[in-house]
Amino acid sequence: MTSIVFYSRTDDPAPWREIFARELPHLAFRVDPDIGDPAEVHYTLVWKPPAGWHGQFPHLRAILSLGAGVDALLTDASLPSHVPVVRLLDGGLGRQMAEYAAYGVLHFHRRMHEYAARQRTGTWEMLEPRSTESCVVGVMGLGVLGVQAVRLIDALGFPVIGWSRTPKDLGAVETFSGAPGLDAFLARTRVLVNFLPLTPQTSGILDRRLFARLPRGSYLVNVARGGHLVEPDLLAALDDGQIDGALLDVFGSEPLPPDHPFWQHPKIVVTPHVAGVTLADEAAAQIIANVRRLENGEAPVGIVDRAAGY
Ligand code: NAP
Ligand code: GLV
Repeated sequence: MTSIVFYSRTDDPAPWREIFARELPHLAFRVDPDIGDPAEVHYTLVWKPPAGWHGQFPHLRAILSLGAGVDALLTDASLPSHVPVVRLLDGGLGRQMAEYAAYGVLHFHRRMHEYAARQRTGTWEMLEPRSTESCVVGVMGLGVLGVQAVRLIDALGFPVIGWSRTPKDLGAVETFSGAPGLDAFLARTRVLVNFLPLTPQTSGILDRRLFARLPRGSYLVNVARGGHLVEPDLLAALDDGQIDGALLDVFGSEPLPPDHPFWQHPKIVVTPHVAGVTLADEAAAQIIANVRRLENGEAPVGIVDRAAGY
């Protein structure tokens, strides 16, 4: 019997098992480490399997990602090159991520980080309010998820600008692209929101040189990947006031180690990689449709461009 194997240490397989049993009853749904006969495995449904894990399936037809970002899969040099990697396109993540980004913008714009510090010392002090128009939000990465954040933040009345690899037309939202557009984009940005995929080109992009190109006292919201951020550079930029606060959902090492300086830093808010969580109810329809396409000999939707890395 043909099978699909589920691997994730953070997602519950139970709802997926139920949906697959209902929608594709001819496929055996297996959960690692109970993989059955590896020769029967045609599909995997995965989040961060260990390097080399896919090598055990000789008849694999597709690797289906439980997430939107596939950097952890693509850095596995042993991933079979002939098998398509298919990622999640929104699947409910867009709305969650947009909410998180909008929350970050409001948090810093309304100086909640500064009021939180005053609350800890019982200090009643009104800080100077700032106009919404003066708070330009710059979104890096205008793909499936970044665009939804742009739309929500725009709807809240903030001036929004965006930056991507190739030029984009987002109507009234001003956009910039590529290395030549980065300076102008950063010079205008007050709250920088990162929605980039982690690729060799974007790794470490949030570094000292980039922070220096932002207006003094800017804010950072990183919802993309920890590998984008050079952590010591952020600490230095916070210490000297170039960056005035950061909301971070993703980290170079996850879980964030208990002794990491980010935990106690007064200008950093940490969340445990929850900006966008894959929910079976919202994401399964897309994955089921892709398996049906594959079973009919059609191409799935959301195939990753391995050369581009996203
Ligand atoms: P996507 O649709 O592939 O969009 C990626 C965007 O980044 C595109 O606009 C792309 O430009 C741009 N880009 C890529 N390389 C670039 C470069 N070198 N310079 C400038 N722009 C570049 O990705 P998505 O579905 O929106 O997802 C974005 C990321 O969010 C994922 O990769 C993942 O890391 C992260 N994520 C995080 C969570 C969480 O819970 N924290 C949840 C889901 C996703 P073009 O449009 O020109 O190609
Ligand atoms: C989560 O980080 C995802 O990429 O879906």
